[in-house]
Parts: sequence; structure tokens; C-alpha cells
Amino acid sequence: MKSIKVFAPASVSNVGPGFDILGFALNEPGDEIVLTKTYNGKIEITNITGDDGKLPYDVEKNTASVAIKSLVEKYEISDGVSIEVNKKMGLGSGLGSSAASAVGAVFAFNELFELNLSNADLLPHALAGEFVASKAIHADNVAPSLYGGFILIRGYNPIDIIKIKSPKDLFCTIIYPNIEIKTREARAILPKDIPLKNVVSQTGNVAALIYGLATDDYSLISRSLNDVIIEPVRSKLISGYYDIKKTAMEAGALGCNISGSGPSMFALSNSEEVANRIALETKRVVTELGIGGVTYVSQVNQVGPKILD
Ligand code: HSE
Repeated sequence: MKSIKVFAPASVSNVGPGFDILGFALNEPGDEIVLTKTYNGKIEITNITGDDGKLPYDVEKNTASVAIKSLVEKYEISDGVSIEVNKKMGLGSGLGSSAASAVGAVFAFNELFELNLSNADLLPHALAGEFVASKAIHADNVAPSLYGGFILIRGYNPIDIIKIKSPKDLFCTIIYPNIEIKTREARAILPKDIPLKNVVSQTGNVAALIYGLATDDYSLISRSLNDVIIEPVRSKLISGYYDIKKTAMEAGALGCNISGSGPSMFALSNSEEVANRIALETKRVVTELGIGGVTYVSQVNQVGPKILD
């Protein structure tokens, strides 16, 4: 095989109370990565589309090439590779855009060079790619995009990834308003000290959310989708946030919160019909607010990246 084209999914991270420790993969959107062996010993980015010219061609700065470089160094690969990145979602969208490119890159590289590496082997290299974009190690986009499914990161040192069962009829509506938020900046505004009563509330919600997901308890999922630490701060970056959230809840959402560092918001529901209704109603609101945006409806993507024809 000389060339390979893959899809790597977007993801919702934090999922309400699970800052930096919870995330799940989506069926759409997702990035496409094309890798071609070049035999010249170089890693090169030859084409980037869908980024409005914003992403770097410098291999030291692009999440996809940094992830591949990390693999090349670790496994001492001497062949060269050219990289094409086709962005299918906005940058700074809160949908794990940089993570999807890094995951697509390591997944494609593993297949192209027949390295037979496991997801656990690939994870640190995708994280190295994600790091150049967000300047922080957080795996709650990279791990769901790579493993698929609903992911809990129990700890980071060493990294401990746990795939959680989630209800098969769980649907997610994404509302992506036309705003760009850089993860780096959205992390910088977070409080450094958290009052103990908020920690109690947050840990109660995150524990109950996981139990609710694992036992198909929609009422518990709904009661647990609360974030008392991050949402009050970051919601200020998203104009109309509480109007959009109220609309999603009135349309039947189990809960609605910020996807990753925003501006995208996610709403969970227990049927496709409700998920579509939330998409329709929230899209109307972002249009009325003069912000505009796009919506997606997806179940939890259980597969992660895949090879395209
Ligand atoms: N957990 C990270 C954050 C995800 O909220 O900063 C960034 O997409």
C-alpha cells in the first residue's frame, strides 16, 4: 500500500461535569487525512483544505504532522510520508478538531506502515499532536476519537482509559454557533481554586452520570448533566448560551452543556426524533440571535477512525 485515506471523528469532551475526564465520539463531523509514502525520509504537509488558510504547513506546528513525527521517532521509520489534511469542521469549534486530525494521522500511519500498534500505543503520539494546538495534555477528545465510544479518563499519570457503556438509543445534537474559541484561551480563564461545596456537587454529578450511562437510566443521566465549575465561566464566551440551552431543554433534551471548550454545545436525548427537534429549534434560535451556526445529530460513534475508499 502506498497511500491511505482515513476518517477520524469529532468528539464531545467534558460532557457536563467531567472536565478533562469524559468524552464521546460522534459519527459526524470528522476530519479526513490522506497519507502517502514518499521514500525520501521526510515528513511533509502537501495540502490542507477546509481551514480557511489558518492551519500551519510547518511540520513542527501542525497537530497531524507532530503526531506522526512522534511515531516516526519512536519506531525509527526511515521512509518519508506526505500528509494531506481535509478539515471537515471549524477550528476552535469545541468538537475536538485538533484531536481528530492527530488521531486520523496516527491511525493512518499505523495502517500504512503496518505497525500493528494498539490504541494504547498510538494514544501518546496523538496526544503529542494535540498538545501543539492546546498547549495542555487533556485526552478527553483524543481518546474518544481514537477508541470510539464513551470514554472516562480515570487518571493521567499513568493515563488510564476506560470505555463506558452508554445506552444504544442515546442521541446527541450538536449546536455549533458561528463563534471561534481557542481552547488555550478558554482554559486560561478557569478558576484555579474550587470551593469544596462545588467539588462535592461536581463529583456527585459525574459519578451519577457514569452510573446512569452504564445502566441506561435516562432520568439519572438528565439529573446529572450539571457542571457547577466550568459552565458558569465559559458560558460567558458564547453569546445567547442560556437562550440556546433553554430552547434545547424545552425541545426535550435530557441535558445541554458546552462541548469541550466551546462554542459548540451538545444536548443529549433518548430518540432521534427529539434530537432532530432540538437541532431545528436551536438552529432557529441562533439564527434569530444573529449568530448563525450549524447543527449535527449523531449517536455515539463506537468505532473511532476508519479507512475510506
Ligand atoms: N477538556 C478540555 C477543555 C477539552 O475543556 O479545556 C478541550 O476541547
